[in-house]
Amino acid sequence: MPVNSRSLILRPSAKINLTLRVGPKRDDGYHELRTLFQSITLHDTVTVSPRQGPFGLACRTPGVPADRTNLVWRAADILWEAMGRFGKARDAHVRLDKTIPSQAGLGGGSGNAAAALVGLNSVWGARLSRRDLMRLAARLGSDVPFFLQGGTALGVGRGEELYPVDDMERLGVIIIKPSFGVATADAYGWLDADRASGADLQADPVGHPRREVEVGWPCGPLALINDLTASVARRHPGVRDMIDACLSQGALAAQMSGSGSAVYGLFSEASASRAARQLKRPDWLVLVARTQTRREAARRIGL
Ligand code: C5P
Repeated sequence: MPVNSRSLILRPSAKINLTLRVGPKRDDGYHELRTLFQSITLHDTVTVSPRQGPFGLACRTPGVPADRTNLVWRAADILWEAMGRFGKARDAHVRLDKTIPSQAGLGGGSGNAAAALVGLNSVWGARLSRRDLMRLAARLGSDVPFFLQGGTALGVGRGEELYPVDDMERLGVIIIKPSFGVATADAYGWLDADRASGADLQADPVGHPRREVEVGWPCGPLALINDLTASVARRHPGVRDMIDACLSQGALAAQMSGSGSAVYGLFSEASASRAARQLKRPDWLVLVARTQTRREAARRIGL
């Protein structure tokens, strides 16, 4: 029987990668990363409810599976197992209301899974510590632990080892999501192929990385470099168009987020909405958000 009898409503934030440096491929097949994650106010809504019977998941967004392949279902399974329960997860239901686009590099699926861990931990009365949840999160995906931390954080290793960075000055963020998506494994595979073939990925840096943005201690001024951008832009030239469009609207800096396909532009908070109105194209979804502090992001998922 569930311990907590009320539904919990959690609002996991999206993330952008302010910088994403990709090192060599490791023996386990993952790449060694140095990345600076940043929470933004764009969010999904995850409702976790006690409900007797087999575990259930509902999501009405087309293209988002509401079955065992969804990371939320896997989060339920590994938490159930960590609690020492036998058989299949049960006595809870999760509903996803999506706003964060999928296959965008914004961590939508990962944030949903992190919120599910927090919500189910409460509904099932599991009382796992945040440190324990972080360990389970790392098994679900490289960036899932970040969503249990939020704000600005340096990610190393696969991206799962996190070091907090002081909150940055609040900035407006425009997200542009094109009609195509990119699977994370594909983006890393393209980078490997380009490196192996000796393609000159530095010849024409995408995103004008010489523009620096002031980030909190200990980072200071930071050039927004994403080592995946050139390889993704070679297969999807639209990435370059979106970055150029943000810069031509006066962005302080613009870059692809994670493995794409979404691009973000950083603006002063006052100018972001006006700039977004100029960025209309039939094949672009344009969203306006702002950067979020660690405290704001953590509160939204009940931490
Ligand atoms: O950890 P996650 O499941 O999100 O990773 C998805 C895929 O992205 C991996 O299977 C791998 O191909 C690639 N990846 C990588 N190096 C990382 C993170 C992800 O190669 N540090």
